Amino acid sequence: MPPTKVPRFLQTGVADPVADQAAARAALLAEAPSIAPKFFYDKLGSQLFEAITELPEYYPTRTEAAIFAGHATAMAGAAGSGMALIDLGAGNCAKAASLFPLLEPKRYVAVDISVEFLRESLRRVQREHPQVEIVGLGQDFSAALEIPAEFVADARPVFFYPGSSIGNFTPTEALAFLRRIRTRAEGGGLLIGVDMVKPRDVLETAYDDALGVTAAFNLNALRHLNAVIGSDFEPRQWRHVAFFDEARSRIEMHLEARERLAVTWPGGERRFVAGERIHTENSCKYTLGQFADLLQDAGFSAPRHWSDAAGWFAVFWAAA
Ligand code: AVI
Repeated sequence: MPPTKVPRFLQTGVADPVADQAAARAALLAEAPSIAPKFFYDKLGSQLFEAITELPEYYPTRTEAAIFAGHATAMAGAAGSGMALIDLGAGNCAKAASLFPLLEPKRYVAVDISVEFLRESLRRVQREHPQVEIVGLGQDFSAALEIPAEFVADARPVFFYPGSSIGNFTPTEALAFLRRIRTRAEGGGLLIGVDMVKPRDVLETAYDDALGVTAAFNLNALRHLNAVIGSDFEPRQWRHVAFFDEARSRIEMHLEARERLAVTWPGGERRFVAGERIHTENSCKYTLGQFADLLQDAGFSAPRHWSDAAGWFAVFWAAA
């Protein structure tokens, strides 16, 4: 029996905790205070996000899954053969792995912020798909996307960015990010999930569910920030706020002070009046035309898409 393949792992760009802490404190002191969305994702926050994806109100995950299930053959036809499939924000790798039978990647490059997140899932994926060469790349790809040349050697680079995570960038940031992908995707392309504009009540309920899971996800950023910068946020003093800003076509999430309060951390303090808000996330929603234009502005060609019957979500393919 041939020896079982083992995934390769590489971590690039070491985190700079001191710079991260300084940036987080500066954001709290800004005229319009904010907490970066990366503070959602400590261990508990990642579990709360998993729970969000199970909520009846949060349509994106199940709608996207149904689009992949219904159109995988056409997507595979568009993406072509002999690919290195580069999964941005791979997590448990389940979405990409479910497409292996049709996409038949030569190599699978799973990218996530920490290579540690990938180890267990990639060993499982390798056992289930012994024919695929598997690589785990730990990288903060939203800051710097660097795919080592050897990972795309002899293969067409096909980037995979599902889950509508592109919506968490502003359109200007999204354009810059898509351009970075485009320059690294020559001869291949991009398969990307995008959340669409839809009636306000559907959007607002998806980000303010009846069980309060999204509220807990938002408030948990305060606990995470306390652990990282030594602040003394008391989550009970804050309220989850989510609304659709139609002019900017985005859901905004904020944390609103329930009372007059002060937050302190080593070397600093900020006072808040009742009703004052900290901005924690944008989740931009696109029309089909707007997103196709964005892909073309980024240098991709011939974008096409697959959607659900209600047009709530779309998966785009664009060639590079
Ligand atoms: C990860 N991202 C695509 C989610 C979204 O829908 O923007 C994060 C999220 N925030 C609140 N609920 C889910």
